[in-house]
This record gives sequence, C-alpha cells and structure tokens, in this order.
Amino acid sequence: MQRKYDSIRPIKWENDQLVLLDQRLLPAKEHYLQYEDVIDVANAITEMVVRGAPAIGVTAAYGVVLAVRNQNPEQNSNWQSDVEVDLKTLADARPTAINLRWAIDRMRKVIAALKPGEEPIEILLQEAKLIHQQDIEANYKISDLAAEMLEINSTVITHCNAGALATGGYGTALGVIRSAYEQKKIKLVYADETRPWLQGARLTAWELQKENIPVKLLADGAAAMLMRQEKPDWVIVGSDRIAANGDVANKIGTYNLAVNAKQHGVKVMVAAPVSTIDMGSHSGEEIPIEYRDESELLKIQGQRVAPEGVSAWNPVFDVTPACLVDAIVTERGIVKSPNLEKIKTLMS
Ligand code: MRU
Repeated sequence: MQRKYDSIRPIKWENDQLVLLDQRLLPAKEHYLQYEDVIDVANAITEMVVRGAPAIGVTAAYGVVLAVRNQNPEQNSNWQSDVEVDLKTLADARPTAINLRWAIDRMRKVIAALKPGEEPIEILLQEAKLIHQQDIEANYKISDLAAEMLEINSTVITHCNAGALATGGYGTALGVIRSAYEQKKIKLVYADETRPWLQGARLTAWELQKENIPVKLLADGAAAMLMRQEKPDWVIVGSDRIAANGDVANKIGTYNLAVNAKQHGVKVMVAAPVSTIDMGSHSGEEIPIEYRDESELLKIQGQRVAPEGVSAWNPVFDVTPACLVDAIVTERGIVKSPNLEKIKTLMS
C-alpha cells in the first residue's frame, strides 16, 4: 500500500509503453515522455531524462521488454542472441550505477529460463514490474529501519537526489527522511544544490516541498560551515555502487561531505537496496567512475560562464571510504561501521 508522503512515481508502464518523467525539466515542468524503442531508452538514461541508480535499473528492466518486443520473437528464432547487442547498449548507458547491470542480468536470467511455447514478452514484463515493485518495497523497509536510528527533531543534510525520482518510488535517503518526518523525527532537511546538474536544488527541493517537508538549500561548499554552526545530526545519502569492503560510490561531493562530517562529529548514513552492493568490486578503487562532458561545468543553461579556452574536469561520482561511513542501511538490515566481513554476512 502506498504511504503518506509518497506522491511521486517517475517511471510507469502505460498502454504498452514505458513512460518516464523528464527530470531535466523539473521543477519548471512536469512532462512525461513515452518510449517504445530500447535505444531511445538507453539515450534517456545517458542524457539524464531518468537518473538515480535504482531508477535506471527499473528503467532498464522495462527497456529489456522493449528490446525483446522489437526482435519480434514469434518470427525470429534467433531473438535471444540478436537482442544481446541492444542489451549491451542499454548496460553501457551509464557506467557507475551497478543497479543498471543488475536489472539487465536479472532479466537475462528470465530469458534463459523461458520454456518452449512460453510467451516471452508477457513474462518479461511481469519480471520488470516485479523489479519495480520490489524496489519500492525495499525503500519502505530501508526507511523504517533507518528512521529508528534518528532522534526526535533531527536536522539532516542530503546530497544530490536519492528520492522517489531516483528510484521506483519513495526513495532511499529521501525515503528515510519521509518515514522519519512522519514519526516527527525531522526538524529540517538541508539539501546540497549538487553542481553541476543541480539534483539537490531542482529535484530534492521539489520532492520535499511537494510533501511539505521543511527543506533549505545550501551551496555544496557551505556544508562544512553548516556543520560547525548548525550541528546537524546526520548526513543521509544514497549510493550508485557499494563495494564489498563498504566503500561507497555516490554523486560527486559525497566524499567532501563525509570528510567534513568526520571533522565535525556528524554521523553519515548511506541508504541503499542490496541491488546497489557489488561484491565483484572489492574496493572503491574498482568502481568505474563516470566522467561527463566538460560543457556541463563550463556552461550554465547553455551560456558559457568560464572563459573560452579554459577546460574542466568533470567526474560525476566519487568514492567515500568505508571508514567515513557510520551505517549502511539496506532492506536486509543495518551494517554499522561497514567492512568486508559485515557486508559478506549481509549478502550471504
Ligand atoms: O547522476 P545521478 O543524478 O544519476 O546521480 C544520482 C546519485 O548520485 C544518487 O545519490 C544515487 O544514484 C542514489 S539514488 C537512490
């Protein structure tokens, strides 16, 4: 059952099409785009129509349905191998969020298990809907568990957008904030603006305002000053990939926040489903970091702000070492002071 403070669903399957809320246009416009072609879906992921690790996983699962449908399985007996080209394009749409590959691999397993005479598209669609629903349910569980760790009237900082928009619905870090707010445990949320895509200013502020949860924006560089002056209780963020040793990849600037949090005695919580944990990445050093075009930094809304001839360095994720993380909260449980042994136990 849908919860209180749970009004946003960025991904839908309607009239045999994938429907995505175009997050590039928020908060100015709430506009939905329809997709019938998997390559268009891959481009939507690369171009940030949909973003956030679990959300791109859910989107990719529906993308697999479209890819198979376009192969026309009834007429193409080689569809299972032919579709692989499209699945690779989909998996390569963004490199850091493991949820993307995780969802495609889960869909691949369903393809491999199909029995003669079974109708692949309907079965794959059911699986994509299940992945979507399970993501929302995981967020509810994460949020209930994590909210227990917060005291009444807490002040928290979040970075980027790990909300309903970044997931199937409800959110990870913002899910925790939603549940904790319902329990009167949140006084105020500070949202880092999150340069250069401004996920904090555009998306997190939009989501929280829509639910009437008190939110104040701050420039990314103001977090240390905020920690010294306002003494917030928690930094709460999501993740794109958690390595086996507990190192956490998330939006660029998360590492800065965690270092500052250590200096100022602020606790750091990472809220993420187990589909974000990659036991194949032994440490953060093995997590591929996405670098995006330098124009994202050199221009603001298409207008160049840096002098002509100046270039920019634009990694869009960073890795926070496990030693700076107080707790990773998943739907399977809470891992305090994460390390390899504890993550292995969680995943076993
Ligand atoms: O580049 P983005 O907007 O896809 O980055 C998103 C993040 O970094 C989120 O914090 C992360 O994916 C977790 S979302 C629940």
